[in-house]
Amino acid sequence: MRWIRAAGRGLLVAAVVLAGYVTSGTQAADGARGGGRGPLTLATAGDLTGYLGPLLEGWNRTHPGEKVTLVELPDSADETHAQMATDLRSGDSRFDVLNIDVAWTSEFAAAGWISPLRRDRFPLKSFLPPVVDTATYDGKLYAVPYVTNAGLLLYRKDVLAKEDVAPPRTWAELERAARTIAPKYGLDGYAGQFLPYEGLTVNAAEAVYSAGGTILGDEGERVTVNSTAAREGIGFLARGVREGWIPKQALTYKEEESRQAFQSGRLLFLRNWPYAYVSASGRNSEVAGKVGAVPLPGPDGPGMSVLGGSNLAVNSHARNADSAARLIAYLTSDRVQRQVLTRGALPPVRAALYRDPGLVRKFPYLPTLRASVLSAAPRPKSPRYDQVSLAVQAVVHDAMTGHQTPEAAVRRLARELADISHRG
Ligand code: GLC
Repeated sequence: MRWIRAAGRGLLVAAVVLAGYVTSGTQAADGARGGGRGPLTLATAGDLTGYLGPLLEGWNRTHPGEKVTLVELPDSADETHAQMATDLRSGDSRFDVLNIDVAWTSEFAAAGWISPLRRDRFPLKSFLPPVVDTATYDGKLYAVPYVTNAGLLLYRKDVLAKEDVAPPRTWAELERAARTIAPKYGLDGYAGQFLPYEGLTVNAAEAVYSAGGTILGDEGERVTVNSTAAREGIGFLARGVREGWIPKQALTYKEEESRQAFQSGRLLFLRNWPYAYVSASGRNSEVAGKVGAVPLPGPDGPGMSVLGGSNLAVNSHARNADSAARLIAYLTSDRVQRQVLTRGALPPVRAALYRDPGLVRKFPYLPTLRASVLSAAPRPKSPRYDQVSLAVQAVVHDAMTGHQTPEAAVRRLARELADISHRG
């Protein structure tokens, strides 16, 4: 991997272990304790495109005895994580089905907060392969992929065309255009999600991987970050702020703030998830018709994205676990996955949709996105991923604000990650 890559082998072992697990008829096979049908709550991070409520109405109309109530938590991955964790830890959870970030499956599974699921209830073979792996832990399926994600570089097509410059494939090209072209048009150069939260971990990891480095190996047990490549990756971000082609304000951006900056015509380049491309190309955007998207650049050519997205899991204390599994099957059906894309502007997990000519016409970035998802680096399956991410955020923030050199930051991060993995 970048974080780690042993997915192929892991899946094979998982299939064998699970076959035994499922036929042994343990009560957890369908989800949680109450195995029956009835009403549900679904907790999710902020629904940025406002599509999920209307989509669930479709289920509620056809399943009057199993109505689902949507509980929308904050936009930021970290705040949603904190609220879900507090709720689940209490043992008296309000949430039956949880739409969890792919980064959290291992932590939630290891803590016993979510139940293993029966593989044969869900169309796992129809999904893009890397997303299925994000839903497994310790050889078992603990969630069902729902949305995937990969970072893209959005750029102002109109500005680059006027300058007769191609969209950047390398950091040097990005830096040059951000430094010299952006100011001519009264624009800031480049931004991503640089506030200290999960988004900064993602952006920093992408920079490190793109330079050929890694952060952790062996699913979080081995620290591999002390490398020239990691210094180069973090150095790229720190240099941007120091030289001014990353605006200082970007240190306060999460997904939405960075999208708004780009969409209101203040930025030449933006790293964000595909929903931002759809939004910036849409009716309410000041840059509609002027937006292009390419893979993230790296030092010598295309870089690497972190694999984003979310999985649907069933609370181990859920009421009505059968209905929970039925709702998840509905949300991952071909028809609903299509709506996740067309109404939610979110990347679906079903592989066939990326090759659907009608959809590709409407969402021209789908082939690029598919390639980015297939080559994206998953986050480590560490039950302590939350602590790992906090350490990365804090250290990279210090490097980007100039409080520590990239060299010192990488050394400190290596020490902190070693402490976390020894904590056991
Ligand atoms: C998006 C991704 C998610 C990631 C988060 C970081 O929501 O889908 O995987 O952790 O952004 O902010």
